[in-house]
Amino acid sequence: MLVCVGDLLENILVVLPTVPNQNSVTKIRSARVRGGSAANVAALDAEQGGTPRFVGQIGNDTLGRTLSEDLQRRGVDLAVKQEGATGVTLTLIGRGGRTLLTDRGTARHLHIIEPSVLTNATQIYFALSAFVADPMANAVDRLLGDVRDRNIDLFIGGPNEADRQDFGIKPFLELVSLAKPQAVILNHNEHQALGLHQQRCIDGAATTVVTNGAQPTLVLGADGNAESVSVPEVSEIRDRSGVGDGFIAGYLASSRTGANARAATDAGHRLAAKVLAQLGPTSTSD
Ligand SMILES: Nc1ncnc2c1ncn2[C@@H]1O[C@H](COP(=O)(O)OP(=O)(O)OP(=O)(O)O)[C@@H](O)[C@H]1O
Ligand SMILES: [Mg+2]
Repeated sequence: MLVCVGDLLENILVVLPTVPNQNSVTKIRSARVRGGSAANVAALDAEQGGTPRFVGQIGNDTLGRTLSEDLQRRGVDLAVKQEGATGVTLTLIGRGGRTLLTDRGTARHLHIIEPSVLTNATQIYFALSAFVADPMANAVDRLLGDVRDRNIDLFIGGPNEADRQDFGIKPFLELVSLAKPQAVILNHNEHQALGLHQQRCIDGAATTVVTNGAQPTLVLGADGNAESVSVPEVSEIRDRSGVGDGFIAGYLASSRTGANARAATDAGHRLAAKVLAQLGPTSTSD
């Protein structure tokens, strides 16, 4: 089974028709969906028939209870601590692109992770945000030792811009070289920000997977093998929230069955396409 460690947040999507003026009212369209890469990957794994577990800290508030009940209803096993206030991300969608405003709330305050969360785990996914701030970073570092001892396949996502600000590029590269993940999965901008050559894998990772929206995904092996895997065209894009997590969940589920990185990438593309057709980080319409 897959264990996902990280954040469970609310993501408020705001579609801005124009750039808002100060001291005025702008009518918007909005939707509330789930945020937090680890929670999204767990939910998407369950939607594909997996039996995942989510590990994190959520608020002891109505929002935290609503979000965790929804994960449970989708078949995710929860190993969560409830304390403080649930975090929120605001995604402002305008003509020029997307702006994210984020408050992780209580998520990073998780300070103890019992090794028992690894029971039956064969894969573990960490959103990089789990490593960037204490006390959670400390708890996660300790858990990594158990992950290694139990030979659980490790997958790391990111680093997104917030992670790079909070953590830095050098500590991220050091983490990967020490933790030796099965794969690091990141997008083109995140890979570019590392300052590596375009086709350079990240040292320590068996595979580096670089997605790039509708452009081909690069699959870079530690052995120097580089493959460019084309992305099938999608007929409808309803909303792109959670699309990167859709790719990750598809990739992990396929790897779990023994597929190689190339076949897992195809599976990632297929699940990401389903997520693009739905509102929010889901592949189904319920
Ligand atoms: N415009 C698109 N057309 C077809 N597929 C897409 C498109 N955008 C994203 N995808 C699919 O989603 C995958 C991940 O996309 P992308 O590289 O944009 O991830 P990301 O930037 O990490 O996303 P997120 O904003 O969720 O973090 C792609 O490899 C592809 O399979
Ligand atoms: Mg992403």
